[in-house]
Amino acid sequence: MARITASVYTSHVPAIGAALDLGKDKEPYWQPVFAGYEYSKQWMKDNKPDVIFLVYNDHATAFSLDMIPTFAIGTAPQFPVADEGWGPRPVPPVIGHPELAAHIAQSVIQQDFDLTIVNKMPVDHGLTVPLSLMCGQPPADAFQWPCPVIPFAVNVVQYPVPSGQRCFQLGQAIRKAVESYDQDLNVHIWGTGGMSHQLQGPRAGLINREWDNAWLDQMIADPAACAQVPHIDYVREAGSEGIELVMWLIARGAMADVTGGKPPAVKHRFYHVPASNTAVGHLIMENT
Ligand code: DHB
Ligand code: FE
Repeated sequence: MARITASVYTSHVPAIGAALDLGKDKEPYWQPVFAGYEYSKQWMKDNKPDVIFLVYNDHATAFSLDMIPTFAIGTAPQFPVADEGWGPRPVPPVIGHPELAAHIAQSVIQQDFDLTIVNKMPVDHGLTVPLSLMCGQPPADAFQWPCPVIPFAVNVVQYPVPSGQRCFQLGQAIRKAVESYDQDLNVHIWGTGGMSHQLQGPRAGLINREWDNAWLDQMIADPAACAQVPHIDYVREAGSEGIELVMWLIARGAMADVTGGKPPAVKHRFYHVPASNTAVGHLIMENT
């Protein structure tokens, strides 16, 4: 049987990808951001998964106002790195896991979540920046990501967006789906985006350290209560793009304690302001 053994949570910011791609990561502005991921890169080497189920949001790259799936699962064998206006990042394409992705689609749809099946999808900074933060940035030609990745895109860009509760329940369904796969696979689930930030309008630049850290405490200790946080609280307290945080509840919902097992261990926690306009939050949790 396949198992979800760990979850990873991290912000994504396009400027983090640009800092890595342009070799600016040792500069004083960026050094404290990347320092927060030193533990994580070693942890990835020591705890290499067979597959990463990567929950992220597309930023009007693969999708547009033409078509807006709430939850989209990538079932292709490969996903190209998107050109977001400056050419594709110099990182390898993402290798998928079509068999496990198709199985999860079958199981989760039969558990009454309506997923969109996507067989062709360029992946943007929402997916590649978390991979770079966790896996590092060796020379492009020699480098492959450590394992196959199933991209799972959530609409948090165009209203209406899904609630925290819906995301939390979806995480539980994904856990059941993974556990009903007949091959022995070690699966990690990542929840990405957030934390507080607002990129537009009169409140552009908003950061809320206190709210972010209280949200993290509750997300770790009492995810069911955290899932009740209404949409308007995210927007008011964490800014219009702070709503990306509901994606973390998908990963948290897939951890063992939520379905009756033991509480996960928090292996690493990091928070830093700012990276571009964003408060960077990061957690690693292991099922025990
Ligand atoms: C920034 C953050 C994001 O989440 C994003 O998608 C784009 C930009 C930023 O802080 O610059
Ligand atoms: Fe974003």
